[in-house]
Amino acid sequence: MNILITGGAGFIGSNFAIYMINTYPEDRFVILDKLTYAGNLENLKGVEDAGNYKFVKGDITDPVLLQKVFKEEAINTVVNFAAESHVDRSITGPAEFIDTNIVGTFTLLEAARKSWQERSSMEGVRFLHVSTDEVYGSLGKTGLFTETTPFSPNSPYAASKASSDHLVRAYHHTYGIPVVTTNCSNNYGPYQFPEKLIPLMVLNAFKGKPLPVYGDGKNVRDWLYVEDHCRAIDLALRNGRLGETYNVGGNNEWKNIDIVNLLCTQVDEACASDTELSGKYPFKGSRKELITFVKDRPGHDMRYAIDSTKISEELGWSPVESFETGLKKTIDWYINNEPWWERILSGEYARYYESQYGTGL
Ligand code: NAD
Ligand code: DAU
Repeated sequence: MNILITGGAGFIGSNFAIYMINTYPEDRFVILDKLTYAGNLENLKGVEDAGNYKFVKGDITDPVLLQKVFKEEAINTVVNFAAESHVDRSITGPAEFIDTNIVGTFTLLEAARKSWQERSSMEGVRFLHVSTDEVYGSLGKTGLFTETTPFSPNSPYAASKASSDHLVRAYHHTYGIPVVTTNCSNNYGPYQFPEKLIPLMVLNAFKGKPLPVYGDGKNVRDWLYVEDHCRAIDLALRNGRLGETYNVGGNNEWKNIDIVNLLCTQVDEACASDTELSGKYPFKGSRKELITFVKDRPGHDMRYAIDSTKISEELGWSPVESFETGLKKTIDWYINNEPWWERILSGEYARYYESQYGTGL
């Protein structure tokens, strides 16, 4: 396969690219990424010498570039991660979400359609669209999102992803493009940009800074280790039924406040067991004292929870990482990769943060 991975320098995209490049040396990979604030070529350092991978800096809203890449690289498989992904940013600046998530997905579908319709058949081509459980809206105390739950997106981010999901579906129905869509819950793990809950809390906990919990901290998310998500996408790509969507989740619901408490305990323990670390990140007492309840996110969805029965029964997928071990691995990764996040915290993101929140990071 000649696989185009868009957004492959971001959090999940780079984890997926590394997984795929190492797992399938016989396939060829082209990673196309605009390198926005969230894209980082350092994420791909581990595979830069792999003979089966090429990086292209580019924008999925650019039809000329996409046409060139499809032609020159004989792309027969697309995995679309490229997106603006942070809900808070979609509230303060939705325009980029409309451009990338909606227009970008449309432009990519058009490039695939034009390129693949020149073939004698759609045999051997595939478009996998990576989406989110946020398209389904918010749950009350009970219930789970299934693939037939009606879309009810609440944030500009969720609405832009829902729109992209509809376009993908329509390109299958109208043009016969072989598509599969996955809708996944909250991911965590290595290379996650430190604006998201888990890395933000871990890094602030290291530094003894306030841990800002939105509202009362009782909102619930279903957390999945990123590698489990990557395996699910790989299975859906290879064996998923065309035109279908697959929900992917960790069966691992947590209130935000409980996660933050757990992270505090794990960071305290990591520092207590390592004198070098406790010297670098000194803190007296429990880091739980740093928890600060702050103004809630506007329109904050209360609860997400996924029913993964379909992908589990049809494709044999289930998560393998436990939350305890996954969080520990994640914290260790941030401990061992300080230059990665220090560069982020001292660059463009620091200026963005100051302009949004009026204080430094
Ligand atoms: P991320 O923000 O870490 O990475 C997004 C990547 O897309 C970055 O490398 C960025 O440079 C690139 N990009 C942005 N605009 C682009 C454009 N116009 N053209 C080309 N590249 C562009 O995001 P993530 O958390 O890795 O999410 C990846 C995908 O998975 C997204 O589609 C997101 O909606 C979906 N998803 C994320 C989660 C999660 O918990 N993070 C859960 C479910 C689904
Ligand atoms: O559900 C899948 C989605 O999960 C993905 O589609 C998104 O791309 C991804 O960003 C994530 O969205 P969330 O809004 O759930 O993730 P975030 O890490 O921003 O927030 C998780 C929860 O923690 C949410 O209820 C808001 C809360 N939160 C977040 C931050 C950044 C806080 O309480 N404090 C914070 O500082």
